[in-house]
Amino acid sequence: MSTGLMACTADEPAEPPPPPKPSIMVLMTDTITPASDIIWGVEDPQADEEWQVLDDAAVTLMETFAATRNGGGGPNDDGWADEAKFQAYIDQEVVALKQARAAIAARDLDGLFDAGGELYTPCEECHIDYNPGVAEEPY
Ligand code: HEC
Repeated sequence: MSTGLMACTADEPAEPPPPPKPSIMVLMTDTITPASDIIWGVEDPQADEEWQVLDDAAVTLMETFAATRNGGGGPNDDGWADEAKFQAYIDQEVVALKQARAAIAARDLDGLFDAGGELYTPCEECHIDYNPGVAEEPY
């Protein structure tokens, strides 16, 4: 009896539960929006450090969009992530972000402006399909 009890106690290690996935909404507002603003707000970067800030933002965006591919903690997130159309918008973001990183590496400001435009289109189109309320809001 006491052995059984001990075994039972031993079987209850404090294994922390996995952290809950953030919702797509939180990723959008807390990470994707500020990182995109860095890319869209580019003026005239000169020093390597200034270009690095832009590249870091592009990498953050790639990682965060990649995370949205797997859904999230919001009520509709996993359903959206299952849709090919949703994934296709993320594919477009990845293409735009690769273009942005190539422009940053080449110190090509015009190329970065173009990539910023490519980055914007899927934001708008995906919101029209999946978050109609926000589609007309400027951000
Ligand atoms: C693949 C689809 C998709 C793409 C691409 C996308 N979003 Fe979103 N975004 C969403 C969805 C879905 C929501 C709403 C989430 C919810 O309602 O739970 C959202 C919500 C938002 C919100 C919050 C709006 C509100 O209602 O308060 C902001 C801000 C936002 N996105 C910014 C961006 C920016 C900036 C980009 C482009 C760099 C972008 N999003 C690209 C799907 C996308």
